[in-house]
Amino acid sequence: MDKLQAFIFDLDGVITDTAEYHYLAWKALADELGVSFSRELNEELKGISRMDSLDKILEFGQKGAEFTTEEKEKLAKKKNEHYVLLIKKISPSDILPGIEKLLTDIKSAGLSLALASASKNATMVLEALNLKQYFDVIVDVNTLKKGKPDPEIFLRAAELLNVQPENCIGVEDAIAGVDSIKDAGMFAVAIGPEHLFPRADIVYQTTNDLSYNDLIGKFLNR
Ligand code: BG6
Ligand code: MG
Repeated sequence: MDKLQAFIFDLDGVITDTAEYHYLAWKALADELGVSFSRELNEELKGISRMDSLDKILEFGQKGAEFTTEEKEKLAKKKNEHYVLLIKKISPSDILPGIEKLLTDIKSAGLSLALASASKNATMVLEALNLKQYFDVIVDVNTLKKGKPDPEIFLRAAELLNVQPENCIGVEDAIAGVDSIKDAGMFAVAIGPEHLFPRADIVYQTTNDLSYNDLIGKFLNR
């Protein structure tokens, strides 16, 4: 019989509101490139790697063919420098409501915890939030072949934790992230508006609605 072994969390937009800073940094770059970019289009970028996000923005503006790989690397670097500047002052007060309580409850229950973020800045952000000590594993994105929505990142987290995917709960705020969790054969919790996540097993509007007991109950009755 299946039993819950681990929780695997996304970072940006789940643990802290860095999803907003990614949006602001991409928006500034899109404006500079003359590409019209909205919060609605931004939903397609959530969870997606830096270079894949840039490719999508250029695609939105039909400018995909205008830049060489080297030029695109410079643009991605520029966005990242802006993003890093925006998150400079991040501190434990930026942990989203309900998250630290949930992490504490997970660890008190003796379950394992992993981070499956597409961000190369993830460890730095976790350290700034003073949350790194909760995590048994932080997946190194540099070792992955494919980004979300591919399930590789969640499967790698389970492998590193030495647990079975079907005994894991994944928590995400991105459509690509929920696809990644479901295709890994895990139970998916989404944070955000219900209509965005038809594949999620549970959708909570905000992190404030997360409750360890509620999650366990829903996982066991799935
Ligand atoms: C994901 C974010 O967590 O990380 C994306 O949802 C972001 O918006 C991606 O593009 C990559 O982040 P970074 O920090 O490596 O550019
Ligand atoms: Mg996210």
